[in-house]
Amino acid sequence: MLLAALRADDNRTEMLLDPTSAGLLRFDSDEQLKLMAVFRKGRPDLKGKIMRISDFCFITAAAAALVGMTMGIVMGISQDFTLAPSHAHLNLLGWVSMAIYGLYHRGVGRTSGFGGWIQAGSGALGAAFMAGGLGLYLGSHDERFVPLVITGSLLAALSMLLFLALVLFDMRDRRTSAFGMAAHSG
Ligand code: HEM
Repeated sequence: MLLAALRADDNRTEMLLDPTSAGLLRFDSDEQLKLMAVFRKGRPDLKGKIMRISDFCFITAAAAALVGMTMGIVMGISQDFTLAPSHAHLNLLGWVSMAIYGLYHRGVGRTSGFGGWIQAGSGALGAAFMAGGLGLYLGSHDERFVPLVITGSLLAALSMLLFLALVLFDMRDRRTSAFGMAAHSG
């Protein structure tokens, strides 16, 4: 059972350490394995078959960085900085924020789940709408593009709010599981 738990998720082997530092925990019952699942947030049966949330975040982040950097290079060559705010938001919401979200989800072992996908998805859409809307508006001064910017900013803020909620839920789950595992190991 212990080996099965180890194989289930290499990234979370530290969970096998007894929170009371008394040594390695043994996972003898289904109940104990369920406690582990609280940490993992992913479904082992889906592992390797679909994209993990962190993969999505990193792919989005790298794509945003490539487009954002290209914009920067073009601005520099042409000496036309009209789109600088769009470039800045694509890099910061797209590259920086999405990469940080991805690192967090990978760190806690969240591979799937409704909350995580909504959080990451709204972050990606927020970056695209905000940067795209700003670029279109600044390039044309057409007011019709303003709703795109507003939608993007609301999605980006929603993503950050959900991120805060997930961090707090994860903290609570970790505490609950640590107590549970300590009780079972004793
Ligand atoms: C190949 C990489 C990059 C190039 C060539 C580039 C180029 C530029 C240029 C030409 C400007 C306009 C400067 C001006 O208005 O005088 C600018 C502004 C800016 N860039 Fe970049 N940049 C790059 C990467 C990044 C990255 C990775 C970030 C953030 C993570 C970033 C954030 C910003 C910000 C915040 C501004 C100010 C925007 C504003 O004043 O409205 N840039 N960049």
